Amino acid sequence: MYKILIRPILFCFDPEKVHYFTFSLIRIVSKIPGVSALFRFLYQVNDKRLETEVFGLKFKNPVGLAAGMDKQATLFQELSDLGFGFIEIGTLTPVGQDGNPKKRIFRLIEDSAIINRMGFNNGGVQEAVERLKKNKGVLIGGNIGKNKVTPNENATSDYIICFEALYNYVDYFVVNVSSPNTPNLRELQEKEPLTQLLQTLQNENLAKPKQKPILLKIAPDLTDSQLLDIIDIVKETKIAGVIATNTTLSREGLTSANKVETGGMSGKPLRKRSTEVIRFLSEKSNRAFPIIGVGGIHSAQDALEKLDAGASLVQLYTGFIYEGPALIKEINKAILSKK
Ligand code: FNR
Repeated sequence: MYKILIRPILFCFDPEKVHYFTFSLIRIVSKIPGVSALFRFLYQVNDKRLETEVFGLKFKNPVGLAAGMDKQATLFQELSDLGFGFIEIGTLTPVGQDGNPKKRIFRLIEDSAIINRMGFNNGGVQEAVERLKKNKGVLIGGNIGKNKVTPNENATSDYIICFEALYNYVDYFVVNVSSPNTPNLRELQEKEPLTQLLQTLQNENLAKPKQKPILLKIAPDLTDSQLLDIIDIVKETKIAGVIATNTTLSREGLTSANKVETGGMSGKPLRKRSTEVIRFLSEKSNRAFPIIGVGGIHSAQDALEKLDAGASLVQLYTGFIYEGPALIKEINKAILSKK
């Protein structure tokens, strides 16, 4: 129904407007008595065999929502009703910021892809905290970043502010240094600044009575030698794992006219590279840490491929837009059929 009826209508309008419209619609509709239960009935697959324990957390199923869609933690409860096993909110920054000028999301329909240059638009970490206080049991990842105006030399303090603010309200953290849309952010993926950033956060974490898993989200555009550095850094700082991958700067194989837009590309054309990165990290590290696999999952087969390459959990963004909520159920059923 989504692909035949709903998507053709939504795709007639500006992607960002559609995003806010559908968020409002889902929120309002979910308030009607019985609707949340109906969503759960239609989309959730509740089966003990899907439960996955990774970095000390129990996920009710291994299919999550990737960062960027529920940036401000406004819809995590309703999105969980649609079958996701966990929701990653953010990227959040200490202070609210507008992000890049609109228009900044582009559909590449012929390629089943998206290019975005949002630039960490968000209301600031504290606003999200207020909403997370109402969480009724959804497993939440908190994806954190730095404000655009903060120079890279001071980036660590931005990450610490977000870490401290979210500490009591999220289950795991994601350090995002891989967005292509904040100038120079990706330079923080270099060995020295990255080790310093992660070690500082990890020290902050170790000072807490109970530690939360900290993960690093990486770009698919890193070279093999940079990926080997990442393995060393994860081992050295003893963070919990890696999310591979964020969006790419590559435009290889694209046919849509919108391929000329600046920003990070996601969706089907990212699938292969993202899986390669997962396999490389998993094999070269000897499975030393868990990986969350994300990038171009548009079918159950795509998700199985990521798990087979070494991912313990998977996340969706663009595939959810193109295929609709039924994709979550299809993936969970496919995982069950392999058990
Ligand atoms: C993203 N993504 C993203 N990632 C992140 O860590 N922080 C963010 O704020 C965002 N924002 C964002 C906005 C939009 C419009 C898109 C399409 C994507 C990246 C996302 O979480 C994911 O890593 C990639 O999109 C690759 O997965 P898919 O989309 O191919 O399933």
